[in-house]
Amino acid sequence: MIRVTGLTKEYMMGKVKVPALKGIDLEIPKGQFVAVMGPSGSGKSTLMNILGCLDRPTSGSYFLDGTDVSKKSDNELAELRNRFIGFIFQTFNLLARTDAVTNVELPLIYRGMAPEERRKRAKEALEAVGLGNRIHHRPNEMSGGEQQRVAIARALVGDPKIILADEPTGNLDSRSGEEVMAIFQELHEKGITLVLVTHDADIARHAERIVFIRDGRIVSDEMVRDRLFAREVLAEMPLDEASAD
Ligand SMILES: Nc1ncnc2c1ncn2[C@@H]1O[C@H](COP(=O)(O)OP(=O)(O)OP(=O)(O)O)[C@@H](O)[C@H]1O
Ligand SMILES: [Mg+2]
Repeated sequence: MIRVTGLTKEYMMGKVKVPALKGIDLEIPKGQFVAVMGPSGSGKSTLMNILGCLDRPTSGSYFLDGTDVSKKSDNELAELRNRFIGFIFQTFNLLARTDAVTNVELPLIYRGMAPEERRKRAKEALEAVGLGNRIHHRPNEMSGGEQQRVAIARALVGDPKIILADEPTGNLDSRSGEEVMAIFQELHEKGITLVLVTHDADIARHAERIVFIRDGRIVSDEMVRDRLFAREVLAEMPLDEASAD
């Protein structure tokens, strides 16, 4: 599904080159759930942005489902991204003045889908993340966990093959974070490929595989032996740790 070889990325700061990735080789088979860990500044977000076709590498190759991404124009990349990839960020990135269902519809608007069809799909996506009763709330009328679930619904509404999530639980309390992981594990069971960046070792243990990056290089890559399952963790969690929702 994802195959990168010899991937490098240098940012230019004025005349100074900042090397962010120094030769990443990584293969992620279809349907795998991978966590990426590493210190701040090690290149995790840089890698995610390249995997998500939001940015291009300085050198190296990236094949996405057999397609050589470097051969694509910017417009073709935008199209590929819209059809193939769902993004989730630490800060949710929702439109502030816009209600949940309209936020979720956005990717479908870019696709030119008819209004009735896209509203129907947006409602279904919100129901799938347990927010069928919040569709007309705006972001400031929802808890952090709910906002992140809206962002997940927006990432899912276009039926992506890959979900890329950069610190999706970073701003959430432990229960809301665990609920996000429960959704990710359900998506994994449905065969979606997931790549998740996290600083939290317990969050990473929900994945099948953990890749560690340090200073722009992969320094370890292992399958998780004692996986955590969010449904089990949630069942054990005392209720007084519940989030404001
Ligand atoms: N747009 C940019 N211009 C210049 N340098 C950048 C840019 N984005 C990132 N960098 C640099 O590239 C390196 C990798 O940054 P990146 O954001 O990928 O780290 P990260 O692993 O995601 O860190 P964090 O855990 O703090 O989010 C850092 O040294 C950073 O300062
Ligand atoms: Mg980052």
